[in-house]
Amino acid sequence: MGQRKQLKLGAMLHGVGSSTSLWRHPGIQSDASVNFELYKSWVEKAEAGKFDLVFVADGLYINEKSIPHFLNRFEPITILSALAAVSKKIGLVGTLSTSYSEPFTVARQFGSLDVISGGRGGWNIVTSPLEGTAANYGKTEHPEHEKRYRIAKEYLQVTRGLWDSWEDDAFIRDKESGVFFDPSKLHELNHTGEFFSVKGPLNIARSKQGHPVIFQAGSSEVGKNYASKEADAVFTGHETIEEAIEFYNDVKNRAITFGRNPDDVLIFPGISPVVGVTQEEAERKYEDVVALVSAENALLYLGRYFEHHDFSQYDLDAPFPELGELGRNSFQSGTDRIKAKAKEHGLTLRQVALSVATPRPNFIGTAEQVADQVQQWFEAGAADGFMVGSSVPNGLEDFIELVVPILQARGLFRTEYESDTLRGNLGLKVPLNRYSELLKVEERV
Ligand SMILES: Cc1cc2nc3c(=O)[nH]c(=O)nc-3n(C[C@H](O)[C@H](O)[C@H](O)COP(=O)(O)O)c2cc1C
Repeated sequence: MGQRKQLKLGAMLHGVGSSTSLWRHPGIQSDASVNFELYKSWVEKAEAGKFDLVFVADGLYINEKSIPHFLNRFEPITILSALAAVSKKIGLVGTLSTSYSEPFTVARQFGSLDVISGGRGGWNIVTSPLEGTAANYGKTEHPEHEKRYRIAKEYLQVTRGLWDSWEDDAFIRDKESGVFFDPSKLHELNHTGEFFSVKGPLNIARSKQGHPVIFQAGSSEVGKNYASKEADAVFTGHETIEEAIEFYNDVKNRAITFGRNPDDVLIFPGISPVVGVTQEEAERKYEDVVALVSAENALLYLGRYFEHHDFSQYDLDAPFPELGELGRNSFQSGTDRIKAKAKEHGLTLRQVALSVATPRPNFIGTAEQVADQVQQWFEAGAADGFMVGSSVPNGLEDFIELVVPILQARGLFRTEYESDTLRGNLGLKVPLNRYSELLKVEERV
């Protein structure tokens, strides 16, 4: 009998949480976003739970209206490199923007993380939604949405090319003869394009998994095209299973039109499960967190998606205001969705702000119930895996301790790692080195 298709799991490491007020809860360590011991304990727990990966989100612009976690947090490559040293099997995926960085540096950083961790590195490519970022990088303007994706496309071509600078058997390191490497296996990239000019080669060789795993987070039309053509995995967010199935089929079908196997791009919706001994206890945990969020906080949280727009100028109980194009050059897919939902359901500003700031989790209940929900989404073709975050204290820990064993008992999730690389555990192919590949073709001729 063939093995049942296996679910993939990622753990979001997000300090005091991705909300305005969770840090005030008595169950939360208020310095969690800069507490290395806590990050270390989360990785250890996620690895004991056989998670595929841990995931670190990021941003490059803050102001006094930003949520607490964004104000003071670790830079992804730095924290993941430290976590590589205290873990053995779990993947380490970090967010880095292609709009505000240089491909040579970033190829080198992720290449190093990948080698340090023995082939467990991953890069979540984002294009930076916030216009204010430009002022932190000496730029007068934030590139517009479509241009940011054009930059991202060329950027990834360059980094992939740089990662192939050294063929896998290039380093001879023969002390006797004094031959350190075979020059025929070292390759310059010599890239010149619309945005980048990079000669190469890169000063770090490939890891055991060839290239770091490429994640992408962005769900607009251009974002979905980018993901389905280029990415190994997509990080996304959905409120309903129907919406998630539609997104899943859409990205997989686009991948097919780009000549890819749909299994080569894995879809990870983000979830923040709330687990209780009883359904009522789970509901209470969620309500305790909602009670911490004031309308003022919710407006600030909502505002960030719209270039920190000042929503306090509107009547809270009037219909959600008409915002025109505002938000389309930042979190396009997210702001389009907020506007459409408000219109469709005739929501007030207060309702929209609270639903964005403290969304009701769609995975809530006893451990059995949450496992049922996970199984339902997985088997309905809404997800290949999930990125598990915490919207209540110990949300991730509860999921690992209480839900994962049920998923394992049902044969849906591994009890042992299959591999010690991230690609191996995710079931993704190791990309061939383009030059070794060329050589093989030439040899055949
Ligand atoms: C689920 C999800 C997670 C994201 N995480 C980040 C992040 O950590 N850092 C960031 O700068 N942008 C993040 N983004 C924003 C995207 O990179 C992108 O800039 C923005 O969503 C606009 O692209 P889109 O309209 O294609 O979604 C995320 C987007 C989504 C949908």
